[in-house]
Amino acid sequence: MTKVLVATDKPFAAIAVKQIREVVESAGFELVLLEKYTQKSQLLEAVADVDAIIIRSDIVDSDVIAAAKNLKIVVRAGAGYDNVDLDAATKANVCVMNTPGQNSNAVAELVLGMMVFMARHGFNGSSGSELMGKTIGIHAYGNVGRNVARVAKGFGMNVVAFDPYAEAAIKADGVELFTDIKAFYAACNYVSLHIPANAQTVKSINYDLLNCMPKGGVLVNTARKEVIDEEGLVKLMAERADIKYISDIIPGNAAVFAEKFAGRYFFTPKKMGAQTEEANINAGIAAARQIAGFINNGDATFKVNK
Ligand code: 3PG
Repeated sequence: MTKVLVATDKPFAAIAVKQIREVVESAGFELVLLEKYTQKSQLLEAVADVDAIIIRSDIVDSDVIAAAKNLKIVVRAGAGYDNVDLDAATKANVCVMNTPGQNSNAVAELVLGMMVFMARHGFNGSSGSELMGKTIGIHAYGNVGRNVARVAKGFGMNVVAFDPYAEAAIKADGVELFTDIKAFYAACNYVSLHIPANAQTVKSINYDLLNCMPKGGVLVNTARKEVIDEEGLVKLMAERADIKYISDIIPGNAAVFAEKFAGRYFFTPKKMGAQTEEANINAGIAAARQIAGFINNGDATFKVNK
């Protein structure tokens, strides 16, 4: 029987697992669950005889691909697939997919939630500031960026965006388009990052770019820590006491922030942008359905490797 492994270091909500199981079993497959594993060896053991794997930010590297002798497909239940070795998958004839858009609203709500939290000084009772009338810049206008624009408009924010690949979508949504990245950062009280982590973007959010932000600028990162030049950000925050950083991913140099920048940063303890029942259900069910479609009908929609 076709075996589908759900391997999640950070588990889906129980209700999502129940619904994933229903989709998998009604396709005639068996579901195997590996949650909260702590060792790579547990994952290597669990993949040994499975045909398909559903993951979140779990690392599927060449060792995992090599250990999964029957593997045909890996679906990343979410947007970013920088945690999967695409070359190793392609060489082993394994299809890799993501589930674009399924957790976007959850991430967008967290963006605005963290912004309010910072603007109100962590709800410590002191006088803060409002989001209405401020400018938010959306750096990369994909599914999450578009949802951030929608929610930010609800707060009465002025929404602008930079994304050379999505200019038509930006204009269609009535969002102001910037084509010069430095002018874009200079125009924004808040910049919300939605770029993927890849060879072009790693460390691209650097000192020179962030230094363009106006007084009181806040950088919001629900993308990936790798896109930030962390040393450059620390240098900037040391020079400019007005700059703040909010992130859903703890940076490599978090101890420096704790030591030097109290009150000017906020990090979630564990990446939780997509950590809602709704997003878990949407992304998990989409992943299960995509596996059924691929194995039963050869449907390769959402394939991300060559
Ligand atoms: C994504 O790329 O979809 C988000 O970063 C969510 O990641 P997670 O499933 O590990 O929470």
